[in-house]
Amino acid sequence: AESGYDLWLRYVGVEDAALRRAYASRITHLVVQGASPSLRAAAGELERGIRGLLGAGVPVEAEVRGQGALVVGTPASSAIVRHLGWGRELDALGPEGFVIRSTRVADRPVTIIASSGDAGALYGAFHLLRLLQTGRPIDTLRVAERPRLARRMLDHWDNLDGTIERGYAGASIWRWAELPARIDPRLVDYARANASIGINGVVLNNVNADPRVLRADYLAKVAAIASALRPYNVRVYLSANFGAPLPPSSTPDAMKKWGGIGSLPTADPLDPRVARWWREKADEIYRLIPDFGGFLVKASSEGMPGPQDYGRSHVDGANMLAAALAPHGGVVMWRAFVYPKNADPDRVKRGYKEFVPLDGRFAANVFVQPKNGPLDFQPREPFNPLFGAMPDTPLMPELQITQEYLGRATHLVYLAPMWKEFLDADTHARGAGSTVARIVERAPNGTSGMTGIAGVANVGADSDWTGHHFAQANWYAFGRLAWDPSLPSDAVAEEWARMTWSNRPRVVRTVESMMLGSWEAAVSDMTPLGLSLTVDGQHYDPGLERREGEYWHADSLGIGYDRSSRGSDYVGQYHEPLRRLWDEPATTPPELLLWFHRVSWDFRLPNGRTVWAELVHRYDDGARYGDDLLASWRTLAGDVDARRWREVQDRLEQQRAHALRWRDASVAYFGCRSGRTRCGG
Ligand code: GCU
Repeated sequence: AESGYDLWLRYVGVEDAALRRAYASRITHLVVQGASPSLRAAAGELERGIRGLLGAGVPVEAEVRGQGALVVGTPASSAIVRHLGWGRELDALGPEGFVIRSTRVADRPVTIIASSGDAGALYGAFHLLRLLQTGRPIDTLRVAERPRLARRMLDHWDNLDGTIERGYAGASIWRWAELPARIDPRLVDYARANASIGINGVVLNNVNADPRVLRADYLAKVAAIASALRPYNVRVYLSANFGAPLPPSSTPDAMKKWGGIGSLPTADPLDPRVARWWREKADEIYRLIPDFGGFLVKASSEGMPGPQDYGRSHVDGANMLAAALAPHGGVVMWRAFVYPKNADPDRVKRGYKEFVPLDGRFAANVFVQPKNGPLDFQPREPFNPLFGAMPDTPLMPELQITQEYLGRATHLVYLAPMWKEFLDADTHARGAGSTVARIVERAPNGTSGMTGIAGVANVGADSDWTGHHFAQANWYAFGRLAWDPSLPSDAVAEEWARMTWSNRPRVVRTVESMMLGSWEAAVSDMTPLGLSLTVDGQHYDPGLERREGEYWHADSLGIGYDRSSRGSDYVGQYHEPLRRLWDEPATTPPELLLWFHRVSWDFRLPNGRTVWAELVHRYDDGARYGDDLLASWRTLAGDVDARRWREVQDRLEQQRAHALRWRDASVAYFGCRSGRTRCGG
């Protein structure tokens, strides 16, 4: 029975017989010249994929023999590719870019996958397989691709004890106890999945970092993981605890009081002993892992140690680590998720106030890493105003793939539309059209190549990897958008539906439509009209009473948070015309109304409804989506394999019940606060 383990790389036989014949005549043998690990991985994947899709393997030959060769290589690895004379074009696409072309070699029709780098050839192989998996014609191919962002990162919040912070898909896939002696073969499948969507870096451990991961015994384990991922062009990074140079704490149970793994009396970034400690640590890491990516750092944030413990700035901390990594080509990803109380009474203003004054002062190999929104991975937030406010600093957005605030692994929520709303948001930083994506895609002067995006992983050791078959789509979509932020959500959903479920039009249509409305429904159900933090302490059930007052207000007079110029003036962190538009309730999009304003319950929205009526309407809508999902899924009972169908069905039942609970709790709560309905009971 299908467990979902194969993700979108199922390679089941092409159902349409004519299409299968067409593919088979175009691909009669495989010619992979070159034997690097990545080229061998490409060859292995093509063999495996073609065998599954066409129902029979194709021979691997050293040369083109007759019609229908599929040639893979680089000008350096392959005489065939070299003689095509595409060198300039391939160079322009870079070592991760590729072309796929139908052409002729020695007058025989062939398909060529070519790149200037082995990694690009591997990505090209996965691209071709995707074309076959999604039923596209391959007769006259003319594909040229290159990633828009250099570092496409999956960040694990995995702890060394095998648990995962905000993970809902079982234990960590890093089996620290077995490493380095035994490397779980699953790691190769993990690497294949990432390579298939272009992810080229993974942070192995939680940002609330256990310093012990930097100890020699753990570094040997990290090196073993790195060796399993390397053929798939996936580099390893680590979250570093800023207090690592300190001696171990005597109470190693309380994570944030761990202390370090060293023996220095301080972790002050300006103390030369500290700088030397990190330099030696970096040297040690690179001796074991020559292509180590660098450090992700959560510092002076939520109790984690950082430069501010010593009266130093984020620049002092980040640049000290950057100097240790620079000789080896490593980078620092310095998180901007900080909200010290003294910075501002309005929490969402604090990250901007801390970081904007530091623009231009970070070393050239430092990314500042803000979350997409200014608060904390809420179902919907306005884009973080740091995007557009730090023109001289490479910014690497952090998205959350794991559904911490979006129903965990119980709810079907397709996140691409949320990420697209963020990426397409116009910051107006340099006039109209300064979208977040454009800002992120262009490295500031002097920081060439410093572009990237990170997603907090939803991967665990469950047999389906993500705890919900549909949550696989979010891993998939993150990778696709990291490769090309301009891809539309629906196109990505369609690809995924075809690869993961079926190419039958009915299945594709139904799965796609289930996915496309799901994020907006989740927003309606939990945080409609720009509310935020309505959850309980576990970030799953409604917890309105505990958030009231800090994140929004609701009483007989109205609801929301006044962040206009008359209130906290958070709106002042945006560029014109947003600052002006979002300063008035009438010109604020309803989706963000209560984020920026406190309005009366009778305030009228553009659609004519009052805020109260619209809230109730949205809660209803959100809850009703649970029914729609179930109804849609039922129609596919015979079209998808029984096990996966039933597992999704179970989840959808739970989702519906949970969504109703959210609606009922929310309507009751606000009914009471507004004085519209009776309180209690
Ligand atoms: C959220 C999340 C924490 C996490 C933190 C972070 O607050 O709930 O688990 O550590 O974000 O991103 O650092």
